[in-house]
Amino acid sequence: MNTTGPRYSRITGTGSHLPPRRLTNDDMVSMLVARGVETSDAWIVERTGIRARHFAADGVACSDLALAASRAALQAAGRHAEDVDLIIVATSTPDMVFPSTAAILQHKLGIAGPSGCPAFDLQAVCSGFVYALAVADAMIRAGGASCALIVGAEIFSRILDFDDRTTCVLFGDGAGAVVLEASGEPGILASDLHADGRHVGILCVPGTVAGGRVSGDPLLKMDGPAVFKLAVGVLDSAARAVLAKAGRTEADLDWLIPHQANIRIMQSTAKKLKLAPEKLIVTVDEHGNTSAASVPLALDVAVRSGRVQRGDTVMLEGVGGGFTWGAVLLDF
Ligand code: UT7
Repeated sequence: MNTTGPRYSRITGTGSHLPPRRLTNDDMVSMLVARGVETSDAWIVERTGIRARHFAADGVACSDLALAASRAALQAAGRHAEDVDLIIVATSTPDMVFPSTAAILQHKLGIAGPSGCPAFDLQAVCSGFVYALAVADAMIRAGGASCALIVGAEIFSRILDFDDRTTCVLFGDGAGAVVLEASGEPGILASDLHADGRHVGILCVPGTVAGGRVSGDPLLKMDGPAVFKLAVGVLDSAARAVLAKAGRTEADLDWLIPHQANIRIMQSTAKKLKLAPEKLIVTVDEHGNTSAASVPLALDVAVRSGRVQRGDTVMLEGVGGGFTWGAVLLDF
């Protein structure tokens, strides 16, 4: 890149990974009926748009999913792991309480050592990838990194309460990654991040580890209708804010890639932006809600299917526990 002009960041490769075990809604129905929990394919499809999700096998760690997605992104970018000088993993389901899944990933990539690059996890639940991308963009523009690996990776199947039909049918496992590099041309145009900690209780895993035991409930709790209502509002406000920051309008958008939680929330966001339905990237049907992995997974699917192309203007949006939300606008 030109070393005298402005410094931006740009995505140079995307990758993703889904664990092989795929469960359809009917598979979930069979699994839950054995526990006395009633649900149906019709309810899940109609209320969420979800038809299937992937669950990781026992013994597979979040860092394993992150590793597969990272290798695919590095290959797409034409980069080697040795080129990476920053790793951020967005996850709420890390391998351990500490150290970070990013540090474990660095080791699995074979680039750990005495002068190893910075590696850390970022916790913003389903907004995590969008937050991580904005943080990496700021670090690259400030000269603190030039080839960042940004990953969203989750194994939500491990924190689901399979006796709670209002949550257990919604989530899945997976990982997505991008390589973000310093560039003389943008790249990332603007970002807009927010949190409102008054809403901690509407989407949380309230347990913690204390005195050698899990203290409190270690399974996911969600007030779905409350999250739904907030999500619809903040996805619209973040979309407008990030467009204004970048000096762009809805008409400039080629693609909208929102957090993949519920097709009704996604369609409502697209409609408010007056986007044609085909400009909305949808993977929630096949992936379920993979939290921090959902946006990079959807981006990679859109890139590899030939829809998102070099030069396209793309809006990424996250929303979730915290309550957190945010948008990143970029020229791909
Ligand atoms: O990842 C972070 C962001 N997360 C989200 O964006 C999730 C946002 N929330 C949602 O997507 C929706 O609120 C849900 C999909 C979670 C729920 O949909 P809803 O239309 O808000 O349904 P509801 O919670 O109001 O429940 C309606 C009915 C209830 O029955 P009654 O009380 O009307 O008799 C539920 O018990 O649907 C029932 N129900 C189910 N029925 C069959 C709830 N879950 C199920 C189920 N199968 N799995």
